[in-house]
Amino acid sequence: MNMHALLLDRFSEALKKIGADENAPVPISRSTKPEFGDYQFNGAMALAKMLKQNPRNIATQIVDAVELDDVASKVDIAGPGFINIHISPEWLGNAVRDIASSPRLAIHPQAAQTVVVDYSAPNLAKEMHVGHLRSTIIGDAVVKTLEFLGHNVVRQNHMGDWGTQFGMLLAHLSDKLAAQEVAETALSDLEQFYREAKVRFDGEQGFADRARDYVVKLQSGDEQCLKLWHQFIDISIAHSEEVYEKLHVTLRRKDIMGESAYNDDLANVIEALKSQGLAVEDQGAQVVFLPELADKEGKPAAYIVQKSGGGYLYSTTDLAAIRHRCGTLGADRTLIFTDARQALHFKQTELVARKAGFMRDDQSYEHSPFGMMLGKDGKPFKTRTGGTIKLAELLDEAVQRATTLLAARDNAMSDEQRADVAKKVGIGAVKYADLSKNRTTDYIFDWDTMLSFEGNTAPYLQYAYTRVKSILRKAGEHSSSKSESIALQQPAEIALSMKLVQYEDALLSVARDATPHVLCSYLYDLASAFMSFYEACPILKAGIDETVKQSRLTLATVTAHTLKHGLDLLGIETMEHM
Ligand code: ARG
Repeated sequence: MNMHALLLDRFSEALKKIGADENAPVPISRSTKPEFGDYQFNGAMALAKMLKQNPRNIATQIVDAVELDDVASKVDIAGPGFINIHISPEWLGNAVRDIASSPRLAIHPQAAQTVVVDYSAPNLAKEMHVGHLRSTIIGDAVVKTLEFLGHNVVRQNHMGDWGTQFGMLLAHLSDKLAAQEVAETALSDLEQFYREAKVRFDGEQGFADRARDYVVKLQSGDEQCLKLWHQFIDISIAHSEEVYEKLHVTLRRKDIMGESAYNDDLANVIEALKSQGLAVEDQGAQVVFLPELADKEGKPAAYIVQKSGGGYLYSTTDLAAIRHRCGTLGADRTLIFTDARQALHFKQTELVARKAGFMRDDQSYEHSPFGMMLGKDGKPFKTRTGGTIKLAELLDEAVQRATTLLAARDNAMSDEQRADVAKKVGIGAVKYADLSKNRTTDYIFDWDTMLSFEGNTAPYLQYAYTRVKSILRKAGEHSSSKSESIALQQPAEIALSMKLVQYEDALLSVARDATPHVLCSYLYDLASAFMSFYEACPILKAGIDETVKQSRLTLATVTAHTLKHGLDLLGIETMEHM
């Protein structure tokens, strides 16, 4: 049910009728206070200015022209010309009935776009870190939402699997293998392996030369060397997959399109930039100068696409990736999830790609940045000794903590059941803590808050879901497919129905802005609306009128369905008991 679009349509029609310019904005928003109704149209003032008329007068004309008889019980004008819309309980009741009888919760697929989503993308030379945790979780939630809305999503895991650091790593690995070590064992801790290689690179006689030699061999396609490289990245990918599996995210091996995949196209990229006069030589390097992004003195930004020795860079690969995505894959939109520190890189990359014609004007390039995950001390999240936190271990700790928490609660679960629930609660808590924050800000990672059964947390929502389900079980699994009419009388029933009807708007906003926190807030509000409803509107109590009971059970059924559906899009599992 797309409330927003419905009102937008009706008001656009009304504006046409009163002779407004067809490009006049149609600002519809949710009312901030109940006395202002459910929705507001705030465009009368701007329109009055344009038409040089009195705003209240314009508002009155709009109210007379707008057709809302079926939707609204009251439309009134407040202040200088705000139009307040009170949605009618009958319309709401019918809308909820439609949602109840639809497996897709009455949400119609959108006109399908091809959306390339670049997320997770760890660097295979090292252990996956918290920045990749954020990218992985947020990206996956957006992907699932886009897919549900009917878009054709292409996941692209742009893994860092190439570059000079592999020279040093391969030289170190080849020594380990020569000393009869097994690759899997040698690479069981990538962070440590990297450190060892770096120590040798910096201090050991001859090692740095060998490392550089490996880089040359790797780039020239030396077979032995490539074999070693494959061995390395295969094991490193397996480390990432272990994390993906624990996190319950949908990335698979087929989604990997690492930096190395673009090697063959890099020379073509440089050629294309040169032939258009975009890339020019500067101190031996190939550079695209960007006057659009000049500094205070008016010096244009320099975007390097090839180093003086001929080597390519992160930027070159990203340009090749654009050609692949916009050309071969036919992306209407490209979404990229990395931390905010890369914002300038993507801004420059987009500018260069557009100048070079690698992207059409109607193809979007949306870097979706996120802030840092901080420890309780407000500093970047690290181990006590300042090292990188291993994600696999962090997730194990989450499950461990959830197990302790559940054991302390009074419930009759078998050990097996508890282990399953602990996994869903622990992982859910970590993911939800991240997803529920506006992604652009930093946030503090705090076990106690995220595992709390109160507040905007995964355990709260998972628990709310089990409560609704237990009510439905007690009522004897209410079948929601019957098209009974829904009679909404109590304010709490109306408020809950309003929330249910707004689900589609929340999803559209997630898909448009790549902001899963909007869905989190929505689900939290929904669960809270249900709790208030259940307190004010008894369902199973003796003496409740049968139609009222059926109507309330339908509300409960749709609430359960929506909670489960929304949590699933966020990649958070639900259970029947907890
Ligand atoms: N591997 C990069 C990193 O860890 C992220 C890659 C993001 N995607 C891209 N097309 N550059 O920072």
